[in-house]
Amino acid sequence: MKVGLVGWRGMVGSVLLQRMREENDFDGIEPLFFTTSQQGQPAPMDRGVLIDALNFEELKKQDIIVTCQGGGYTTKAHAELRRQGWDGYWIDAASTLRMERDSVIVLDPVNRDVIDAALANGQKDFIGGNCTVSLMLMALGGLFRAGLVEWVSSMTYQAASGAGAPNMRELLNQMGMLRDCVADQLATPSSAILDIDCQVTATMRGDSLPTKAFGYPLAGNVLPWIDSEVEDGQSREEWKGFVETNKILGTTTPIPVDGLCVRVGSMRCHSQALTIKLNRDLPIADIESLIAHDNQWVDLVPNTKAESLSRLTPAAIAGTLTVPIGRVRKMKQGPEYISAFTCGDQLLWGAAEPLRRMLRILME
Ligand code: HSE
Repeated sequence: MKVGLVGWRGMVGSVLLQRMREENDFDGIEPLFFTTSQQGQPAPMDRGVLIDALNFEELKKQDIIVTCQGGGYTTKAHAELRRQGWDGYWIDAASTLRMERDSVIVLDPVNRDVIDAALANGQKDFIGGNCTVSLMLMALGGLFRAGLVEWVSSMTYQAASGAGAPNMRELLNQMGMLRDCVADQLATPSSAILDIDCQVTATMRGDSLPTKAFGYPLAGNVLPWIDSEVEDGQSREEWKGFVETNKILGTTTPIPVDGLCVRVGSMRCHSQALTIKLNRDLPIADIESLIAHDNQWVDLVPNTKAESLSRLTPAAIAGTLTVPIGRVRKMKQGPEYISAFTCGDQLLWGAAEPLRRMLRILME
């Protein structure tokens, strides 16, 4: 299989390459590395030189194109390739094509049946899902698969990485500046905490804090809006929760999924607090068992303080494929109402991992 790789140098692309190396995915393919800016320079892994990412003659020779280059590139390259009659497989991290009729959103531990049906149907466009949606489905797959979910309310705590690499750097610079602006008082145990707080708040509101990427302070703050405004007061990130969940699952009767998406100061793991309305009253042990046994990456964390604080946090699982879910209990609203908290690395299951696994499926 000839596989063209585009956008492999960015943050998601780098994670993808790292995972492909770890899993020996390069063994079964003939990779060609494309570039939008460094044509002719040496390609990684001694694979010749970099090819212009808009060189359609070279692109058309590929059986599969995998792109993490972003929506702008997808818009330019995909339609033109198809117009020129290219019939290969397009695997893409960008959201541009996700909701197209001919596209499949890939998350194979959850929707391998949907992927297989699309392949049998001759479909060629396989697109990675929104990170928050994919991570929620990796955690709750067991309940959806059992047909138990009437609706889900998802309140998110999303990491800086979802907004981009510069945002991660900005978050750290903001954190450093907030600390530095009160360094002397912090070093003096007798200093007044309310004075320290006052100084930190003034710095957050002042002009000195770097805010080019986020537009606002994120360190010491939360930002209750992610992505653009769409309709009915929803953000685009919230809109994706409903449409993408149902597309991934291939539901015929859509399951309502809605909530508020919020940016917090974590680095690369999105977290979500979930309220799940089940369509029947099931013992909590059965619910836990369905969740725990759905896939090999989900980690059901017992609902105790110690386990929750040590295993159910971004700090515990960043950089791993583990998707912990815990705080599972029945709520006061009634026996069909379940609470849960989950987190997951948004660069792995949220972005790169479903893409490399789709490549693997095409190599089977
Ligand atoms: N839209 C997500 C976020 C990123 O801003 O966190 C990945 O889908």
